[in-house]
Amino acid sequence: MTNSENLTKSYWIESTPDTDYPALMGDIETEILIVGGGLAGISCAYMLNKEGFRIALIEADHIAQGASGHTTAKITSQHGLIYNKIKTKLGQHLAKQYADANEKAISEIGRIIEEHNIDCNYTRQTAYVFTQQYKYLKEIEEEVEAASSLGIKASFADSLPLPLPVKGAVIFENQAQFHPRKYILSLAQIIGSNVQIYENTRAVDIEEEDDRYVVTTERGNKIRSKRVIMASQYPFYNKHGMYFARLYPKRSYIVAVKAREKFPGGMYINAEDPTRSLRQQDIENGELILVAGSNHNTGQSPDTNIHYEELEEFAKQIFTVEDIPYRWSTQDYDTPDGIPYIGHFTSNTPNLYVATGFLKWGMTNSMVSAMLIRDLIVNGESPWQEVYNPSRKNIIPSAKTFIVENLKVAENLIDGKITPLPHEIELNPGEAKVVKIKGERIGAYKDEEGKIHLVNTTCPHMGCELNWNSAEKSWDCPCHGSRFTYTGEIIEGPAVEPLKFTDDVNTIERLLKDDF
Ligand code: FES
Repeated sequence: MTNSENLTKSYWIESTPDTDYPALMGDIETEILIVGGGLAGISCAYMLNKEGFRIALIEADHIAQGASGHTTAKITSQHGLIYNKIKTKLGQHLAKQYADANEKAISEIGRIIEEHNIDCNYTRQTAYVFTQQYKYLKEIEEEVEAASSLGIKASFADSLPLPLPVKGAVIFENQAQFHPRKYILSLAQIIGSNVQIYENTRAVDIEEEDDRYVVTTERGNKIRSKRVIMASQYPFYNKHGMYFARLYPKRSYIVAVKAREKFPGGMYINAEDPTRSLRQQDIENGELILVAGSNHNTGQSPDTNIHYEELEEFAKQIFTVEDIPYRWSTQDYDTPDGIPYIGHFTSNTPNLYVATGFLKWGMTNSMVSAMLIRDLIVNGESPWQEVYNPSRKNIIPSAKTFIVENLKVAENLIDGKITPLPHEIELNPGEAKVVKIKGERIGAYKDEEGKIHLVNTTCPHMGCELNWNSAEKSWDCPCHGSRFTYTGEIIEGPAVEPLKFTDDVNTIERLLKDDF
């Protein structure tokens, strides 16, 4: 174990200044409102600002602190083994749209960095998808063929520059990596004089009024806008589109390793499960090797610390690990067919747009979102709109089935953990349990000082039951990925209300009756 054990903090966030944009404190009107200040939202603002629109952007927390502040930041069109899958299922035409969009995104990010001279550790890299199992070799070979047929420079290799034995790999040349927060914060500064950016401003409702939308914030302020772009990972708008039934929250992990050996360059990910991904990052006194993966459904891992340990073990198989100064986790949303939703929110909402479901490939897909939505607004169409169409056929499962399935999983996890302790809550410092008090399900966490914090574990979004995340010390929802601190505050996800909370164990019975 390292001397930095147990710290969960993102290198990207630790190595850049905090942002300090104002919160919205009154009502405003604008032409385009962007909800979400990650890479997708800021990139949309950048593209649309160039077209001369009046733009406001609101972020529930601080910009570039969600998935964009916790990514591996690989700028690549190589999204695992995706091209043969799209080509086989949807045909050459749509596979080509996906390839073109992501290739264009790589070059556009490079162009923006050059145009504005953005200092963000941007380097061109070769990307590899490798396998250590013979049974995936055919898929690797097919991916080389499929990607090549779509115009991507792809080739096969039977070894890697890394000291890691493989059976084969797909190579994509001329991909890239960067420091995502240095890039996003610079972009925000570049647009900052023209785009109104508001932090700590959570959208909680949206309504139609004449030919425009009215978005209400949690402080009750109103933003009136002809167009709204939802770029907040999970759309907060529930009434149409059934996104709650077709976005699946996933968590994944990164350990940032200092090793005796120098990293040979390149960006790597395996084809099989569990996911293992690698890249390096130059830092002031050397380099960090980012080892990522160990994905799982949010709220459905009995002990999330294990995922960090697995990655640490993997790193030690390849390198002489001297320290692990940073480790962090992130959340992304998957879609049933493996393609994001970018475009009109529904087929009946011409002025409401969405960009979500990036399946952990958010760097290029954010830029695709910005270009695609800009084209829809400015030209009424985009060359890639069909493959990313959020209303495409056969991707909407029965909402009932989805919710029931998730509730089942949640119940299964809970079963073994419920402890019938009506008056005493036996916990070690740093530990949490779900307990039943008077038939109610309560989440109890004891902090390092021995103080107990109690929350109602029913998710305020749509009523699923939350589970404890031991590594991040949060209550996580298995249904749509809302996450809360142990004192009930929202960390991320679609919930717009905090959990009901008390830290006074003696008043629990009264609170159960009155407040929970
Ligand atoms: Fe939807 Fe919890 S029920 S996030």
